[in-house]
Amino acid sequence: MVTLTNIVYLIASVLFILGLKNLSSPKTARRGNLLSMSGMFLAVVITLFDKQILDFTYIIAGVIIGAAIGAVAAKRVEMTAMPQMVALFNGFGGGASTLVALSEFTQLTGDPVLNVSITLVLSVLIGTVTFTGSLIAFAKLQGVMRSAPIVYKLQHVVNALLLIAVIVLGVIFALNPTVISPLLVILAIAALLGVLAVIPIGGADMPVVISLLNSYSGLAAAATGFVLSNNVLIISGSLVGASGIILTNIMCKAMNRSLANVLFAAVGQEVAGAGGERRDVTRYQAEDASVMLENAQSVIIVPGYGLAVAQAQHILSEMANILTERGKKVRYAIHPVAGRMPGHMNVLLAEANVSYEQLFDMDEINDDFQNTDVALVIGANDVINPAARYKKDSSLYGMPILNVDKSSTVMIIKRSLSPGFAGEDNELFYDSKTMMCFGDAKKMVTEIVKFLKE
Ligand code: TAP
Repeated sequence: MVTLTNIVYLIASVLFILGLKNLSSPKTARRGNLLSMSGMFLAVVITLFDKQILDFTYIIAGVIIGAAIGAVAAKRVEMTAMPQMVALFNGFGGGASTLVALSEFTQLTGDPVLNVSITLVLSVLIGTVTFTGSLIAFAKLQGVMRSAPIVYKLQHVVNALLLIAVIVLGVIFALNPTVISPLLVILAIAALLGVLAVIPIGGADMPVVISLLNSYSGLAAAATGFVLSNNVLIISGSLVGASGIILTNIMCKAMNRSLANVLFAAVGQEVAGAGGERRDVTRYQAEDASVMLENAQSVIIVPGYGLAVAQAQHILSEMANILTERGKKVRYAIHPVAGRMPGHMNVLLAEANVSYEQLFDMDEINDDFQNTDVALVIGANDVINPAARYKKDSSLYGMPILNVDKSSTVMIIKRSLSPGFAGEDNELFYDSKTMMCFGDAKKMVTEIVKFLKE
């Protein structure tokens, strides 16, 4: 049985790796999910048969309840609420690692060897920080708590002292692993640390934090894998840990910020007067927009968070198809941090059956704006804000943006002059070549389509 178990674990691990590989492109992402799910299914089934951990009645009851909650939650969740759902799932992963490690401690017969006691401490520490940190990330994104950074004096010092206390207690526990009390104090401090580490981070940076916590949940699982001597848990935990940190890094790079800046700079504090000044802009109606699009030869569509809020992807794709049928060159420009989670725009547009051939990453298309008649910006703001190029005191400063201002006409569909997530005014709204079309993205595009069809 041990050999069979290890062979199945090996197959599961290969499936995880192939799954991750496939997840790197929207074309193969569905297959990637399927492969990883099959790997996880195999790993769970063989572990249950191998270890005979519990009576199967409990396991089946747990599977039914868990699967029902997961299925309903996944089915119901709005696309825009996906980041908070991922945050919750990460948090539960971390919490599970803590619980498994604690329960394993109570079942140990004899003193644990040094590597087991060290990994026990790591499981409890990382798992609990992930749990409470993820709950705060969830609360900020869900609007249950203020999303602006909560800062106070000596914040980093307090956090550093708590971490030092955990290390000292960890050493005490490792030297005398028969007494559980240091481990329980570590659990309490880690719970506090998770909260304190995430509250100073602004809501706009939560996707990065969630990805980092995802990586932590993997590390916690890997540590628990060492406690249990379970190879597949070690491998899958390490894969989650590594891919989470890679994704975190990709997001930081796309915003041109370091991870330290995201975690410690408290970007996104409410600044008095931000978003205050309002100048006049020329308003255009859907009919004007349809005429402009009708006369254009080339159009680049720039989707952003507002497209997801309005759920305008289907009507947008219909509009793009009409324009393509009329001989126009229509493409979509995807900024790496458009929306609120990695790949947000790709997923949204895939839902509306937009072909992958029409989607272009920022680097592929940014030089083409200068030869484009209309850049149609729909529900995007920060990712086109020129302040990122020159305004040194802006949190957007240094973030590469889509060069929509280089095209002949910039058409922007949004409801008002409000700033984007970063809270920075956008001077492009007032530019002479910009057409501001105010309204909900879905309503506005529906009207444009109506005029195009007339
Ligand atoms: P934002 O800058 O947040 O702008 C979205 C715009 O959509 C808003 O200005 C809003 O203006 C408009 N909007 C909202 N609802 C709308 C509706 N129903 N119809 C039409 N427009 C609507 O979005 P973005 O350009 O996609 O930038 C993403 C931001 O998130 C960046 O700051 C980025 O750094 C941050 N972020 C993203 C990620 C990932 S991974 N995607 C990770 C970390 C941070 P009105 O209210 O006037 O309509």
